[in-house]
Amino acid sequence: MEKLTGRKKIKTAVFISGTGSNLKNLINFSKIKKSPISIDLIISNTNKAKGLKYANQFNITKKIFNFQKIKIVEKQILSLMKKENIHFICLAGFMKILSKNFIKKFDGKIINIHPSLLPKYKGLYTHKKAIENKDKFAGCTVHYVTAKLDSGKTILQKKIKITLNENSISLAKKVLEQEHKLYPAAIKKIFN
Ligand code: GAR
Repeated sequence: MEKLTGRKKIKTAVFISGTGSNLKNLINFSKIKKSPISIDLIISNTNKAKGLKYANQFNITKKIFNFQKIKIVEKQILSLMKKENIHFICLAGFMKILSKNFIKKFDGKIINIHPSLLPKYKGLYTHKKAIENKDKFAGCTVHYVTAKLDSGKTILQKKIKITLNENSISLAKKVLEQEHKLYPAAIKKIFN
């Protein structure tokens, strides 16, 4: 990844599908002087994503796309990103799978946060799986996005102890708290 040489922050899009706590956290991070990125675009596959409220709150452009016709939609997103001069993408609770072609166009410039200790538990219900399997640790991973789901190179990972009587709700809460530390740290690691 290119080093941050000039003073300019790298224009970044965040893709979300839900609550957007990672989005909010990334926006706050982007505002500090040392952040290598600025958040300039928020994309969602659904207008039901609660996190879209942060677009209004922080005055950031938001766009909602219907991913049913993925080829057409991805073309529209690519041209929007070109227009907005976006050079980096953070997926933050984005629940659609991007095509190989799209990922190739942003090769090495799309990252994702996933709520498990990858390569364990790709996909959904990670906390439930960790508890059912009586794992001692859960965690979260920030990784590069490749065409294979949740399989790109790890940038940073955080291990979290699963305590006695843990359930998937309490575990999700604990993991999410750590996600909010891990995502900015991973971005700093990439660019600094
Ligand atoms: C986060 O736990 C994130 O790791 C997960 O969705 C949640 C989104 O929360 N992402 C995935 O499961 C992607 N495979 P947020 O909307 O509050 O940021």
